[in-house]
This record gives sequence, C-alpha cells and structure tokens, in this order.
Amino acid sequence: MKKEAVKKYKAFAGIDLPDRSWPAKSITKAPSWCSVDLRDGNQALVQPMNLEQKLDLFQLLTDVGFKDIEIGFPSAAEVEYEFCRTLIEKNLIPDDVSIQVLTPARENLIQKTFEAVKGAKNVVMHLYNSTSTLQRRAVFKMSREEITALGVKGAAVIRDEAAKQPETNFRFEYSPESFTGTELDFALNICEAVMDVWQPTAENPVIINLPATVEMATPNVYADQIEWFCKNMKDRDLAIISLHAHNDRGCAVAATELALMAGGERVEGTLFGNGERTGNVDVVTLALNMFTQGVDPELDLHDITRLIKVSEQVTDIPIHVRHPYAGELVYTAFSGTHQDAIHKGMEMYQQNTDGGWEVPYLPIDPTDVGRSYESIIRINSQSGKGGVAYIMDREFGLKMPKAMHPEFGKIVQVLTDKAGRELQRTEIWEAFENAYLRKTNPYGLATFNVVKRHFEKDEKGSTAEVEVVVKTNGKKKTITGNGNGPLDAFCAALKRDVTGDFTLTSYHEHSLSESSSSKAVAYIQIEMNDGTVGWGVGIDTDIIIASIKAVLSALNRVV
Ligand code: KIV
Ligand code: ZN
Repeated sequence: MKKEAVKKYKAFAGIDLPDRSWPAKSITKAPSWCSVDLRDGNQALVQPMNLEQKLDLFQLLTDVGFKDIEIGFPSAAEVEYEFCRTLIEKNLIPDDVSIQVLTPARENLIQKTFEAVKGAKNVVMHLYNSTSTLQRRAVFKMSREEITALGVKGAAVIRDEAAKQPETNFRFEYSPESFTGTELDFALNICEAVMDVWQPTAENPVIINLPATVEMATPNVYADQIEWFCKNMKDRDLAIISLHAHNDRGCAVAATELALMAGGERVEGTLFGNGERTGNVDVVTLALNMFTQGVDPELDLHDITRLIKVSEQVTDIPIHVRHPYAGELVYTAFSGTHQDAIHKGMEMYQQNTDGGWEVPYLPIDPTDVGRSYESIIRINSQSGKGGVAYIMDREFGLKMPKAMHPEFGKIVQVLTDKAGRELQRTEIWEAFENAYLRKTNPYGLATFNVVKRHFEKDEKGSTAEVEVVVKTNGKKKTITGNGNGPLDAFCAALKRDVTGDFTLTSYHEHSLSESSSSKAVAYIQIEMNDGTVGWGVGIDTDIIIASIKAVLSALNRVV
C-alpha cells in the first residue's frame, strides 16, 4: 500500500474500564454453543447450500452436540423458508435442540418467520437491527431514538406473535448488530428497551447477543466492551450474554476467549470459521483450545475428518493445511529438531502411567480428534535421524538402537537431498533393506548348524560349536568354531578363517510385533582394526540366525 494511505485510518478508542477484572480470569467451563453455519456461514458462500447439503450439515451439527442451531433467515428467501419447513415437517429436529431463526425488525418479515417455524418444539426467535454509529449515519440516517423504536417495535411484534403459538417453546434473542461499532451506553439502552418489552425471567432469560459484526480492535477491547456491558446492565441475571465474533483482524478466537473471561456465556460461530468476509469465529478451534486446557468443551469433535469432509462438501471451501487442529499438516513435523523432540516425547508418553499428554510441539494428541500418529513425522530434506528412527519404529516395528540413528539418518538424508522431495514410508523401508538386509556381498550365509551344550556344576557353563557355510563373493566355504555361545563361536571362526580381526562393539535385539509373524531382529555394531565402525541388521524367525545375519550385514557395510 502507499505510505500516505495510512492517514485514512484511525485507532479504535479504548474502553474506559479501569477496574476490568477479566484479565485475571480463565475459562473453566464450556459456554453454550450456537452454530450459525446454516445462516451466517451459508449467506457468505459463493454458492449457497442446497436443501440436501443443508440437511447433511444439520445432521452433523446435531451429532456434534449443538443445542442451538441457527438454520436461516426464513423471511429472506424461499429456500430458507423451505428448509425450515422440511426440518419441522419431517421431524428432523431432536427434542433437545432449538432451531434459531433470524429476523429483521419488520412486522411482515417477523410474521413470515413465525409462519416458518409453526409446529416446531423449541425455537430461538432472533431479532436484530443495526445500531452502530456509522450505520446510523451512513445507511439508515436515523437517530438513536428512531433506531431504538425500531428494535422495540420488532420486539413487541415478536412477543405478540409468540403468544399465538403456545405449542412452541420460544426463547427470544436480540442482537444490536455492529455492537462493536456502537457507543456502549446506546447498545445497553437499546438492549434494555427490548428486554422491557420481552419481560424475561430468571427461568426464561433473553439472549443478548453482542456481535463483533466487524472486528475493529484488539481482542482485549472486545473483552472490555463485554465486561462493561455486563457490569452496567440493569437485570444481568435475566439475560444470557452471547458472543458473535467475526474475524476481520484474524483474532476472532482470541477475542471470544477473552470475552468469555469477561462475562460471555454463549458463543455463536461456525465450523472452521466459515462466514462473512474473513469468517465467523471458528468453534472447532475454540472448543479444542478449551479441551487442551482440560476443560470439556461439550462438543463431540472426536471425528474431525468427518467434520472437514462435510464442511468442505457443503461450503466448497477447502480447509487450509495449517488450519488449527484440522489441517492436513498440523500434526506433522518435518524439521529434524522437532522430530527428535516429538520422538522422545512420544516415548515418554507411552511409558507415562498417568496418561497425561505432554509431547513437545503437539498441543493435542491427534488420536483425540480421530487423527493417527502416522503423519506426526514425515521425512524430507529438513528431517533428521530422530524422525527417521521414529518412522522405523512406528511403521515397521524396528527399534533401532540410539547409536545407530546417525548412520541410517545419513543414508536417508542422502536420498532426500537427491530426490528433493518428501520420502514415502515405503522408500524409507527400501533404503533400510538396501543398506542392511539385502547385501550378500562380500559375505553371505548359506547354512548354519549349532550344537549348544550346558554343563551343570562345571566352570565352562554353556558352550556352543558351530559349523557354518559362508559365501565369500559367491564362493562357499565351511568354517567351524567354538565359543561360549553361538554368536561368539561364529565370530571366532569367521575372524580366523575369513575376515581377519574385528570387534563386536554393540549388540541389541528385540522381537518384532505379532503382525510380523513373530520374527526377531538383531542390531550389531562392529569395529575393524583400522577403526572403521558400522552397523548391521539381521531379521529372522530365529534370534541366533538373526544375530549371525547382523554380523554379516555389518561386515558387508564396512569392508
Ligand atoms: O454479525 C452479525 O452481527 C450478525 C448478526 C445478525 C447477529 O450476524
Ligand atoms: Zn455474523
């Protein structure tokens, strides 16, 4: 932008609230939630949802556990009206769910809205009119009194129409639209004037929804506005304070969180933040933020993949790969240091007896939202040995000894540098096979026989005699040896007759999981006389053979 264009803008004036108490508060329980996906979300789409899509979304929203669902603006369009009628006539609304319908403060439109909800069990009748300074000046050219009269008149029509439909349990909601751009004293006056008409009780409170129709300032300002409003209300206990934040500055989640600390009790928002312009507040992020603080959000988000699927299908807007909690890459680390920390954190978590989640770089256990550990670590040129070791363990059940990680890490690094892209798990496995399991040159194993002896009360303890046919550059050779175990006997024979001296410097073994048909794996590190060291790996149904193979594998790598 042009430098001088900044002069077109001025800072939002702060709220005079020296005794603000919200900064010392925290969120300790879930608010009541209202989904506005089918209204605010839908009206912001390039291609609004068709009936079938709306029904799919409504089903999802009830499954997730929303008890208030704003289903549309029935007086605004025939499709909205039809959707409302379909839900009611086909009996698709669970008994504990209220449908919410939006209406402007115009008599004929209110009447049409009541007609739309005829026969429903629970309805939130949501009245709004715009109250902001700017809209009064630029759009309506009305005084505060005239705007108030409009709201009050609408409220009276709603009160009277509701009385004609006693079979429905009505709750009333009023929104001073563009609340954040409205003088606070005026916003309070008009809400109280509407409340005077509706005569709420503690048993049947009104919903006063205070929207950040446009996000105009930092989140603390919205919190101040909410706290100011709550503190100055005449009948605070007769109203449920509802928050409805849009995301123009990208802070709707933060603004809503602070506003909950400031007295908000209910949140209107959408899945993944779909909505006008930059969207409405994202209830999935909000709810999961609570979840990660140990607060039950009272929404069931265990299958986030279904939420994404339905949401993308009905909105035709893809979820960004970095979208909090939902994006394809949000549980993935490519960088070596992050992978290493995650790997160690996961190991610690698996041994942890209290079940508490504490894994570096992962604020939430992906399985809590139906995602797997599979994607936690992916391998590209930024990755490191820890990540590679994690994949080998998680995907293939191979728990490589720590000292071996750098060696195989380097092998994979060469591959990623060469490929210039992410490596698939199969490619990593292939690299492992090529490096450790497939080489039979210069040394291979043809046959192996062992006699093990155990001498009770004998100093010798156990001994072993081996007779092995090894292949040296394809040529078979029989060697024999004795030792205190088969591996020892084999190494003695090999050193004497085939390879010359080397030292076995590290040995590890473990069985592979059941899915790998009870095989065992051995990892052996050897050091040659010239100081060259290398690892070898052997896999076999017999642990002795696995270790023999591992010795040959190591030799094949170092000679
Ligand atoms: O953003 C807004 O102010 C609205 C109102 C109608 C509540 O959507
Ligand atoms: Zn809105």
